[in-house]
Amino acid sequence: MQRHLISAADLTRDDAIRILDTAEEMSRVADRPIKKLPTLRGRTIVNLFFEDSTRTRISFEAAEKRLSADVINFSAKGSSVSKGESLKDTAQTLEAMGVDAVVIRHGASGAPYRLANSGWIDAAVVNAGDGTHQHPTQALLDAFTMRRRLVGRDAGLGQDLDGRRITIVGDILHSRVARSNVDLLHTLGAEVTLVAPPTLLPVGIESWPCEISYDLDATLPKSDAVMMLRVQRERMNAAFFPTEREYSRRYGLDGERMARMPEHSIVMHPGPMVRGMEITAEVADSDRCTAIEQVANGVSIRMAVLYLLLGGAVFETKNVPDTLQTRTEEK
Ligand code: NCD
Repeated sequence: MQRHLISAADLTRDDAIRILDTAEEMSRVADRPIKKLPTLRGRTIVNLFFEDSTRTRISFEAAEKRLSADVINFSAKGSSVSKGESLKDTAQTLEAMGVDAVVIRHGASGAPYRLANSGWIDAAVVNAGDGTHQHPTQALLDAFTMRRRLVGRDAGLGQDLDGRRITIVGDILHSRVARSNVDLLHTLGAEVTLVAPPTLLPVGIESWPCEISYDLDATLPKSDAVMMLRVQRERMNAAFFPTEREYSRRYGLDGERMARMPEHSIVMHPGPMVRGMEITAEVADSDRCTAIEQVANGVSIRMAVLYLLLGGAVFETKNVPDTLQTRTEEK
């Protein structure tokens, strides 16, 4: 039994399918004139953002409001964090206000895990991206998008991504999106190939459950989905490739390259896109690019996660350390 969502690697296949199926239900709310369910009325959720975000922050807020929760938005800029306040003191301030869930984005890998297991707060913790480590709701919304597009909207219910071939391209080294996707896609039975310059692959990549390639052109014709990643300059302290032009020429997706992909295949991007770098405007604006769809799907996924964590249902877990077990068990 688990009451936090820290890593995509903690989810069993059944947990993941339950979230995807619940998100399908939640997506129907978006089609109604009044986009609201009373499910989390009287519950308080804090969005604790120590790092910049557009999509993820707005998406969590929309999901929480659609479930009728009371929402408190906290961003480190303009708060006492910039006066030197620690995560512990910030957390205890939130606890004093009686929050039920904390959605946290932090520049330090492991911050959400620390918060969930510290004893500082009693709330459920949802990781909205920690350093270069994990971004589980992004992996879930990506899997949701792939399942809809590659398996089918209604036919997909209860299904995984068995045998689907997914290629993830770009700055794998700094990408929590890549890590989370590899974990979840593997659990869902997909075959993942990572394509990147050798300098943008992490040490120990051989132990990840995926293939590695340095040749984008050879990989494209064998891909059902191609996920392009942004080069995360804010996490770089050295030169990882000669020039931007050289990077785009070898690892960027343009119209000519996209034409090598099978007709049914899709182009994905978690955003923010740097047009002209990893993806050309032509590809970003094409019908095959699901970037905007991914944003819409993100709201349904986050509604499903918050509903399952706070609404009483629990995830079965695999490989979850004792410290991650629910605190209610201890009581
Ligand atoms: C990503 C992130 O913040 O990890 N974006 C997102 O959540 N949609 C990827 C990125 O910043 O490039």
